[in-house]
Amino acid sequence: MASSPRAFALVFFAVAAVGCTQLTTADDAAPPVWLKANATFYGGADASGTMGGACGYGNLYSQGYGTRNAALSTALFNDGASCGQCYKIACDRKRAPQWCKPGVTVTITATNFCPPNWDLPSDNGGWCNPPRPHFDMAQPAWEKIGIYSAGIIPVIYQRVPCIKKGGVRFTINGHDYFNLVLVTNVATTGSIKSMDIMGSNSTDWMPMVRNWGANWHSLSYLTGQTLSFRVTNMDGQTLVFKNIVPSGWKFGQTFTSKLQFNALLAAAQDAPSPPTPMAPSPSTDETPPVWLKAHATFYGGADASGTMGGACGYVDLYSQGYGTRNAALSTALFNDGASCGQCYKIACDRKRAPQWCKPGVTVTVTATNFCPPNWNLPSDNGGWCNPPRPHFDMAQPAWEKIGVYRAGIIPVMYQRVPCVKKGGVRFTINGHDYFNLVLVTNVATTGSIKSMDIMGSNSTDWMPMVRNWGANWHSLSSGKHLQANCSSNMAPAGAFLLVLLAVAKASTAAANTTTTTTTNPVAAPTQWLKAHATFYGGADASGTMGGACGYGNLYSQGYGTRNAALSTALFNDGASCGQCYKIACDRKRAPRWCKPGVTVTITATNFCPPNWNLPSDNGGWCNPPRPHFDMAQPAWEKIGVYSAGIIPVIYQRVPCVKKGGLRFTINGHDYFQLVLVTNVAAAGSIKSMEVMGSNTADWMPMARNWGAQWHSLAYLTGQGLSFRVTNTDDQTLVFTNAVPPGWKFGQTFASKLQFK
Ligand SMILES: *[C@@H]1O[C@H](CO)[C@@H](O)[C@H](O)[C@H]1NC(C)=O
Ligand SMILES: *[C@@H]1O[C@H](CO)[C@@H](O)[C@H](O)[C@H]1NC(C)=O
Ligand SMILES: *[C@@H]1O[C@H](CO)[C@@H](O)[C@H](O)[C@H]1NC(C)=O
Ligand SMILES: *[C@@H]1O[C@H](CO)[C@@H](O)[C@H](O)[C@H]1NC(C)=O
Ligand SMILES: *[C@@H]1O[C@H](CO)[C@@H](O)[C@H](O)[C@H]1NC(C)=O
Repeated sequence: MASSPRAFALVFFAVAAVGCTQLTTADDAAPPVWLKANATFYGGADASGTMGGACGYGNLYSQGYGTRNAALSTALFNDGASCGQCYKIACDRKRAPQWCKPGVTVTITATNFCPPNWDLPSDNGGWCNPPRPHFDMAQPAWEKIGIYSAGIIPVIYQRVPCIKKGGVRFTINGHDYFNLVLVTNVATTGSIKSMDIMGSNSTDWMPMVRNWGANWHSLSYLTGQTLSFRVTNMDGQTLVFKNIVPSGWKFGQTFTSKLQFNALLAAAQDAPSPPTPMAPSPSTDETPPVWLKAHATFYGGADASGTMGGACGYVDLYSQGYGTRNAALSTALFNDGASCGQCYKIACDRKRAPQWCKPGVTVTVTATNFCPPNWNLPSDNGGWCNPPRPHFDMAQPAWEKIGVYRAGIIPVMYQRVPCVKKGGVRFTINGHDYFNLVLVTNVATTGSIKSMDIMGSNSTDWMPMVRNWGANWHSLSSGKHLQANCSSNMAPAGAFLLVLLAVAKASTAAANTTTTTTTNPVAAPTQWLKAHATFYGGADASGTMGGACGYGNLYSQGYGTRNAALSTALFNDGASCGQCYKIACDRKRAPRWCKPGVTVTITATNFCPPNWNLPSDNGGWCNPPRPHFDMAQPAWEKIGVYSAGIIPVIYQRVPCVKKGGLRFTINGHDYFQLVLVTNVAAAGSIKSMEVMGSNTADWMPMARNWGAQWHSLAYLTGQGLSFRVTNTDDQTLVFTNAVPPGWKFGQTFASKLQFK
């Protein structure tokens, strides 16, 4: 323990160097040259079909966007960051003289996403497929420049400043503890880079997060307070909208400001002030030498459900005994997983923030996760976990022991303490023949393991194991030839020995599968099961975007509005993400609330957390052990009568039907590939997944991080990537070179392979 500060210091330097080379400044100024694209139209002659859309502007007429708008292809949409941007477009007479109206341009606002259509070739219907730049324009805008019968025209375009009348507008949706703020009528860049919120009872700005499109959210409790916003546009110009929302505001209301972005002001305004460096130095006169300084935020919801899984590999923290006293560590503290399992006593630092600290309390947490850097945000404004900052992103219940909820972030002091555990060390064996992945849990005192050996009963020697990721260690010997002899400082014998023998047997029997757990094939259950269903998310399902499966924008991912959040009993720690369920209202139990003769099929895209403040039969609908579907409102209204609010349903799992192949979205950073797997047909859900780089010789197992996201801690940057994916029906597909060597974090790659 005495050496840990030095270990931390080494990590600071190593990671800071990597971090600097990764930092890219996004120069979002309008391109001065004309670029090439193609354009189609949609939405009818009055553009009515362009209402709504993936930017979340809702009714474009009433929001002032009129009929001059367009849906952008993946290549242009930039995951919603382009929402609100303005483009001047001309038909390209050089490429199609007969289809162009001469001498005209039209300026449109980006209000929607044009999703890929993998069923059609890119040059014949799949116009919006990556990497094609494409505008699917409202028909009246398109007809300004193109001749109707052409259908599709080549265009040239450039970004231009947006011109708006009046000030920026804010529409507040959501509910207590979830303020979803839609920002509209933004001039110049049209799009927003970052945004903060402050309630009249707070003394500090709290960063908001882009939720989807032009919607930003804050998880603070701000109900009843006067609200101010601080908004930075893509040019780096910042405006402060002080007390723009009066204290009596209601969800659903829109507030118009008198302030507007201005191109001239933007040029004159200085770049944001450089972040104030955080001294990682532990030396201070005010606190005893063992206490070190850091900051702490919280995540994962009031029941800490969102902290399940994580980069240490402990999976279900409840069942592993880690409860809700846990935290994700920033790079500076995580030490590449070597800190997994360590325990930290944390106190809010009253000297630095008396108003946000609960007095006289400390909380002890176990390190169970990694808090990755966010290079899009400055270290002192959202990028809290960026190196070299020591930072704890704590499970909300643990954080609330020491911090006042609406602070959002608090300065803390911390020290490592011995971990206290009941019972002995536990070993969980995963992997397959020649790859024994052993998870070590319930480790007292240091909490973390420095090294580990394994010996089979047929061997005469200890073989060293290697830390694979987090608290998982591997050996490359065959499980068939291994039995364990537990060394004295480890667990009482027996358990480990028995588990290994069991693995040996199972792997002999099923030598061709990578896992040995049993699953329920989709096809099996033909009988209908009983549950209840409520709805959420608004009539356009906008409130169902995002969610605990990590699918992000459900429109652009092709999940549409037929989706639901599953209660704990059904969610299965995220293993149910992507599964499809056919649901009917149960007329036997509630004839008057059911629409007759209809079913609806939904995809599981979110988790419905328990609400322990309410009884299970009166508001706590998702409390265990209740099976419950909290459905997107449009899906629910297919089967239920609106005024019922909650209906009894019968349901069964059905195969998912998808167009095109599996898609892989790569997030994360060097040494941490977080791969989101979407568009999974049949079972819908993934049981296991492996990755192989073009420079690696072998498949490396990936681990479910959360929801439909799987991670690998290998260094695979610059390599072509192949995936081997097994679904929960035990079908395995190999996606050879699914990702070309030039991939970048944030990109999505569509394959042509699909489960049947
Ligand atoms: C426009 O469409 C044509 C026909 O598919 C294609 O050849 C061309 O590359 C497209 N232009 C752009 C910029 O994608
Ligand atoms: C704001 O703080 C005051 C004083 O602590 C308190 O009385 C009031 O209820 C708070 N208002 C809101 C809306 O939280
Ligand atoms: C262990 O060794 C014995 C004797 O050599 C052999 O019969 C047995 O198959 C071996 N067991 C395994 C699991 O390899
Ligand atoms: C395994 O443990 C038993 C009991 O501690 C000991 O007698 C035996 O020699 C050990 N075997 C090996 C191979 O170390
Ligand atoms: C594994 O399955 C593949 C495809 O079904 C088959 O070609 C191969 O022979 C099998 N290997 C073993 C060891 O059973």
